[in-house]
Amino acid sequence: MTPAVHPDIAPLAFLLGTWAGDGTGVYPTIEPFAYREEIVISHVGKPFLAYRQRTWHATTGEPLHAEAGYYRAPTATAAELVIAQPSGIVEVDTGPIDGTAVSLRSQLVGRTPSAKQVDSVERNLVVDGDTLRYDLYMGAVGQPHQIHLKAILRRVEG
Ligand code: HEM
Repeated sequence: MTPAVHPDIAPLAFLLGTWAGDGTGVYPTIEPFAYREEIVISHVGKPFLAYRQRTWHATTGEPLHAEAGYYRAPTATAAELVIAQPSGIVEVDTGPIDGTAVSLRSQLVGRTPSAKQVDSVERNLVVDGDTLRYDLYMGAVGQPHQIHLKAILRRVEG
């Protein structure tokens, strides 16, 4: 039986589901690219949402970035996100929940010794019915904080 969503995470319940879609990426130091993405956001009745994400190159199908983490909502209008990335990066992000939108900004970016330099990350997500749009900005590899990703996904389950 699926448990009820814990009331403390209800402000972020609009994120629940399996999402699939397409995105594009840019940065001054790299070639622009297009990707396919799957995001799964689930819960177990406790006051957090589990988040996992996978991406593939749009034309070659080669696996690209992936990440996993947890969302929390300490108040009805505040979100917290912890994320681990296979590139040796961890993020601690916080920011406001506004209806079915959440804007997160890194409070901390941790890097393993071999990880690329990432100093700031900003994630803005908006859900409109079964459509999720996000953009991601970062300050990395000596470049000022700017756009890296933009994507649109559809809720395909949940
Ligand atoms: C949908 C998720 C993402 C995709 C598909 C993606 C894809 C890519 C690709 C294809 C590149 C260029 C080739 C490479 O260096 O591997 C790249 C570079 C990079 N990405 Fe992402 N990325 C994603 C998310 C992120 C996130 C969340 C961060 C940091 C928090 C990040 C940080 C970087 C950095 C630092 C570079 C290297 C730039 C350079 O070396 O000049 N990416 N990304």
